[in-house]
Order: sequence, then C-alpha cells, then structure tokens
Amino acid sequence: MTNSTPLIGLYGLGTMGSALALNMADHGIAVAVSNRSADAIDAFVEEAGPLAARITPSADLDALIAALPTPRLLLAMIPSTGPMDGFLDAVIPKLAKGDTVIDAGNADFHDTRRRASRLDEHGLHFVGLGVSGGEEGARHGPSMMMGGSEQSWARLEPILTAIAARYDGAPCVARLGPDGAGHFVKTVHNGIEYADMQMLAEVTEILRHGGGWSTKRIASLLDDWNAGPLESYLTEITAKILRYDDPDTGGPAVDTILDRAGQKGTGRWTVIEAVKLGQSATLIEAAVAGRAWSSEKALREAMESRFGKERAPMEIDAAALERAVLAARVLEYAQGFRILGAASEHYGWALDPARIAEIWRAGCIIRARLLDDISAAFAEDPPMGQIVLSAHFEQTLKSGVPALRSVVSQAQGAGYAVPVLSAALGFWDTMRQGRGTAHIIQAQRDFFGRHGFDRIDGTGPHHGPWWD
Ligand code: 6PG
Repeated sequence: MTNSTPLIGLYGLGTMGSALALNMADHGIAVAVSNRSADAIDAFVEEAGPLAARITPSADLDALIAALPTPRLLLAMIPSTGPMDGFLDAVIPKLAKGDTVIDAGNADFHDTRRRASRLDEHGLHFVGLGVSGGEEGARHGPSMMMGGSEQSWARLEPILTAIAARYDGAPCVARLGPDGAGHFVKTVHNGIEYADMQMLAEVTEILRHGGGWSTKRIASLLDDWNAGPLESYLTEITAKILRYDDPDTGGPAVDTILDRAGQKGTGRWTVIEAVKLGQSATLIEAAVAGRAWSSEKALREAMESRFGKERAPMEIDAAALERAVLAARVLEYAQGFRILGAASEHYGWALDPARIAEIWRAGCIIRARLLDDISAAFAEDPPMGQIVLSAHFEQTLKSGVPALRSVVSQAQGAGYAVPVLSAALGFWDTMRQGRGTAHIIQAQRDFFGRHGFDRIDGTGPHHGPWWD
C-alpha cells in the first residue's frame, strides 16, 4: 500500500481531528497526520481501514512538516487556548515563508487576530477556521467559516469544498474575511446555538410540567414542528432525546440527567463581544445566564426549600406555541446577525450576511429551514439591513409575536422560567417603540451629573429645568 503525497497535514487526532482527516481521505485528499501522543497515531491509522492508503502517519511534528510539499498547509485541531500558542512556538521555526497554519478549533477571535499578525511577521499565513457539526459533521460534512488571507483561501478552497456539507449541492464553506472573521462568525453561531437550545428546553418544560404532557407526546409535537418552518437539527435531536427511556429506571432518559449544563466559552464570548460592540444579544445572554445559574444547584435547592417551587398548570395551545417559537427564533437570528453586522463594520471585514446564512443551512448545529429565508432576506437587502424589516418575516412576526406574548405571560404567571422566550419579547417590545424610555434615563443623567441631553426639537445639548 503506497501513500500519495499529502496535500495537507493535520495535527491533533482527537475526536474532531480524526473525523476531519477521515473525511479528507474519503474525498480523495491525501493527508499527513500526527498527534502529541504517538499511540493515537497508530490506533487512528488502524481504524482508518482502506482510507489509510491516503493517510501518511507522521511520528512527530518534524516528520509531519517534512511530509508536506511547500508551501505547506498545516491544520491543527487542538485546544485553541494555550496549547495553540505552544504549537505555534514549536512550528514557526520549522516552517518556511508562504506556509499556512490553520486553527480549526473554537478560538477567541482576538487570539486569532493576534496569532495572524504573529505569523505574518514570519511571512506565514494563519487561518482561523470555524468548523461546526460535531463529530458527525466533521466526518461527513461540516459547515466551515474561514477567516484568513486570499492566498490561503485559494489553496484551501478545493480541500474544504470537497469535505464540506452540501445544501442543494452547494458546499457550506466560505472565506468570510481576514484573520479572526471566521472564528468570530463561528462564535456567534455558537451563541445562537445556546439560545436555541435553551428555548427548546423552555418549551419542553412548559409542555411537560405546565401542560402535563409526557416526553413522548412532546417528542411527537417537535417532530410535527420539524416538518414545517421550525425544521432544524436542534428541534430534531430534542425530539429524539425525549423519546429515549433509561434502561435502569424505565423512565425518560432525560430525567436521569443532572440539571447542570457545561459551557466552554463561545456563548459567553458572543455576549461579551456584543456588548463591546455596543450591541446586546439578550436572547443569547439569557441562555448563557441559564447555563451559569444551572451550575448553582445547591443554591437553587436552598431557595426552593425556603420559598417553594409552586407552579400552576398551563393551558397549552400547541399551534400558538409553534408560532411563538418561530417568532422568537427569527428574533434570535436577528440578534445574531446584528452582532455580525456590528463586528463587520468595526473590524472592516465586509461580512456578507446572506452568504453566512447560506453556509449555515447544512452541516452545522444551528442548521434550520429558517436560514433559507434569512439568506433570501439578506440577499434582497432588507430595509436598514435588518431581517425584522424584511417582507419575508412580516407575517411570521405579525402572527407569532401575539402568540409569544401569550405564551410568555401565561408561563410567567404560572411560575415557569422562560428567560430566552421572554428576552425575545423584551427585545421586540423595545424595538417596536419609536419613542422608548431613554428620555427618563437622560433626565436622570443630567439631574445627577449635568450630562446634558438633546431635545425632541433637535436642539441641544441642553440641561433640564432642575439646573436653573
Ligand atoms: C458546533 C458546536 C461545537 C461544540 C461546542 C459546544 O458548532 O459543532 O458548537 O463547537 O459542540 O463547542 O459548546 P459548549 O461546550 O460551550 O456547549
């Protein structure tokens, strides 16, 4: 068995790295692989079966780099925190001008920008590649968000196009901008993922405890939703999850899972960056808060025993709930794209929102039917660049928001926590008021600090009569 000359090197044979390497080999792309601990390399090649013919195992970094034709493409699938900087320390002296290093993990885009300029000083390219879709996606077709130079893209495009997920035949991968643009878009993708997951958890809670529905009945409803405008990967897997019983208890498998959610940081980064950009991702923030509070189990238990957890039954109108969730999902994506727009302007990335929505239609965790409409809405240049003003969503919002209002007010009245659904409504009710509440804030600022304000007649700055 002979190995053809590798087109790309891949370092880091964890779950995602192994799956990506096999995906490449499966698509006829010869790949050299290596890993920090050498044991994993042999095990990987053995598991690759016939695909091993396109895989060049390399015992260490030196061997991996030596196996690659120049200019080299070297993809690292290792933690994008400290280990990535250590990896760069090790490879920079071994690489030659024109080589490209690709970070395919979830990185803080500030790190990606810093690393790109570090490599640039050595005549090297650095690509921040957001890869979504989990292990299954990495193996059979992820959605990929590339940030890096045009030159790196020209070399990577054939490889990434071959291994990407496809939507109606179109590959779900694009160069979105320079340096950190790809990792930023992936971060916001994950923020939307957090909000969508929490929203589905809230819906499940309302149906299960407010409506007294069984997990299997909820699963059937989610299946129905998944055949309509709410079709999405997360809707689909939530239905599947709810159908499982635990082999030991015989009851729903979800009931055996501790209610403490992990988080690696991308949701939090989305919220932090949104705020820094003068935006606010309240649906995502509510989901991040939900995960943070979930870890405070002891406090929640103490509060439950002190104050009780009474919750009243709810009247469930499943059709209204569907419309409510659809409206909330539109608002969730709207917030995500507003952050992308703000970052694009601030960093001069010229992000194309229609293209981003297109490459999110398959392969990634937030893939959803709605994204087809979102890409169409952006392609038509909606008023003020906002999808909430696009004709595509006018009816969805007009019929969905009253349903959302009824679901949120009923749920809150009955004592259920619906932080994401209520954040969606709060965002909506704030943004549809031409005149909001900030005149009171301005008056207060002026009163205590002489900060001044503009008057409604357009003149200013002024102080209030409280200073006369
Ligand atoms: C994806 C996922 C992936 C991963 C998250 C989970 O797009 O494939 O978002 O990146 O599942 O890192 O993040 P948390 O651990 O923060 O939930």
